[in-house]
Amino acid sequence: MGKRVINFNPGPAALPLPALEKARDEFLDFAGTGMSVLEISHRSKEYEKVHNEATELLRELLGVPTDYKIAWLQGGASTQFYQVPVNLVLPGKRMEYAITGAWSEKAVKEAALYGEVKIVATSADQKFSYIPAKVKFGAGASYAHITSNETIHGVEWPYWPEVPSDVPLVCDMSSDFMGRAIDVKKFGVIYAGAQKNVGPAGVTVVIVREDLLTRAAKNIPTMSKWITHTTENSLYNTPATFAIYISKLVLDYDKQIGGLAAVEKTNREKAKLVYDAIDKSKGYYKGHAKPDSRSIMNITFRLASEELETKFADESKKAGLIGLKGHRSVGGLRASLYNAVTLEGTRKLVEFMKEFQEKNP
Ligand SMILES: Cc1ncc(COP(=O)(O)O)c(C=O)c1O
Repeated sequence: MGKRVINFNPGPAALPLPALEKARDEFLDFAGTGMSVLEISHRSKEYEKVHNEATELLRELLGVPTDYKIAWLQGGASTQFYQVPVNLVLPGKRMEYAITGAWSEKAVKEAALYGEVKIVATSADQKFSYIPAKVKFGAGASYAHITSNETIHGVEWPYWPEVPSDVPLVCDMSSDFMGRAIDVKKFGVIYAGAQKNVGPAGVTVVIVREDLLTRAAKNIPTMSKWITHTTENSLYNTPATFAIYISKLVLDYDKQIGGLAAVEKTNREKAKLVYDAIDKSKGYYKGHAKPDSRSIMNITFRLASEELETKFADESKKAGLIGLKGHRSVGGLRASLYNAVTLEGTRKLVEFMKEFQEKNP
């Protein structure tokens, strides 16, 4: 095997090595079929087993109650930005959103195509560096929408907002899904692109409370309706079989290492290591997120100048630490510490940060 780097990419991102090794080992002959999993029918019993196991593992690890359906869809979380209003908007009832970064801004743009959107809270005033406190959604809305973790700005909701009991809370959980334990019952809908903590790009998980599935108007296209996919066990059309297969291997691995409680514990340790390094740098590294809104998945920070940031990105890459450049829209640096980034890899980053500071005072 060639040398593997320490991968801090924001997504697609690092995947657990045991899952990749298993995929490699059975790549050419899957389950005795004499074919790769890439080559078999989505209606074959061999694939269907993988498909069902992936869903069951997700349900078990996340504790998804039986009155919630799980679908494996395509089109990325970006497609859900419009599928959410298409499936949930009620005639004459506004949609409510909190804007906490670039991703929730994009979600709002799509929802506005389908009706009135009310922005209940925003942190745009301070460059999306915090999650507004005590956010409360109003009665009478079609639904309330939040983005639990803003991948680009590195802020994560430290609490869940107040939502009236008859208003479903919808959450874009793309970048912290399966990175920590959550109470699914707090949400009406959860959606997440797989390519951070679940698997490769190409598949998006949507979890919907059963009673919400019948809201969609009759005249919306079949493929856009969640109920099409939940009724057909995500096999209405050809699903992203390979992405679901890899996701299943990743979920197997999550279970093997102790489930989401263990995953979250390690993630919190990793994040603490890097935030401590920032806080102890005497202002050399400047964290973007306010301490109470810090993401445990995407740590965003800046240096004194763009030149120094470029130097940091270049030299860290040479040292085998990949993907630390910030998103092109905001600049700076970002360490994405998804599940497959190890504690050991995180320690290497912290060592590098200390050395870089010493060498470039
Ligand atoms: C929080 C969040 N929402 C939505 C998206 C868009 O996902 P996709 O590229 O799968 O459409 C991303 C992508 O990184 C994201 O981080």
